[in-house]
Amino acid sequence: MGKFDIERFVSLSKAVDLSDIDWDEAARVGLTDEEYRILRFLSDTESHTMLYLRDLLSGGGANEPEVMTFLSCWVYEEMHHGRAIDRMMKVCGRAPNAYGETSAKVNLREVFTGSLSRLAASTSPHFRALHMAWGAINECTAAATYQSLAQRTANRPLAQLVTKLARDERRHFSFYYHQAHQRLTDGGWAVQRFSAWSLEKFWAPPGSGVGEPESLDLMATYLFGDERGVADIEAVDASIRRLPGLAKFDMVSRWVAEAKRRSPRAAAPATPVSGMTGATASTASAAPSAVDVAA
Ligand SMILES: [Fe+2]
Ligand SMILES: [Fe+2]
Repeated sequence: MGKFDIERFVSLSKAVDLSDIDWDEAARVGLTDEEYRILRFLSDTESHTMLYLRDLLSGGGANEPEVMTFLSCWVYEEMHHGRAIDRMMKVCGRAPNAYGETSAKVNLREVFTGSLSRLAASTSPHFRALHMAWGAINECTAAATYQSLAQRTANRPLAQLVTKLARDERRHFSFYYHQAHQRLTDGGWAVQRFSAWSLEKFWAPPGSGVGEPESLDLMATYLFGDERGVADIEAVDASIRRLPGLAKFDMVSRWVAEAKRRSPRAAAPATPVSGMTGATASTASAAPSAVDVAA
């Protein structure tokens, strides 16, 4: 596995470029009710990047220059993701979230898992492997989510926007994956076992501590409810299984399967649309490959 190139990452880091998005066309086409709920949920999640940043910093990440450099760029990019999604909702005549409202919704699970991971990470730098593996799962899931939405929306500018966001999430994934790989390797069996156990006990899809649970089920069924969606989400798990000690990881697929069981009528799977910019039905899997992703 190659080394993560932090200098290249910094040189590519910027706010998502919206200059070529045709906002008039987006407004003309509008959003389906399902798309609106999914975008609200994703905006919630993007806006709460700060919570994750807080956990990483208080777990000792602030002592590591490469981690700090990455986080400085990352949080800026994620903030712009949230703003871009909000703009898309507004342009399409749908009300975006108010940050104050969403931060009030942080639940107990979020507080507990944050405390647990901070405690573990402050015990030994190796235990930051858990943060990094957690980050890799979330970024990979986010990339698959945006890519699936791009493939299934009839709103071409929305497809174009979320394809750009998916690209950024893959760059983020690459950082977390490399970090997790190194720390799990260095930490040996104790850190690997602790990380696998903690993920099994506490991992939940990104945004589940802050967004509406019904929207999460809707997202799972709408974006990953058909055969193709299942394959995309299995590819996310397969990427994580390449990490030392996580060879049995399948939690993202299990989350989708449980959402379908719990809310079979949340939404019919959206049909992939061909001809979307940068997101045609012929593009490869929605999930980034751990090996192929470049910083
Ligand atoms: Fe993002
Ligand atoms: Fe990200």
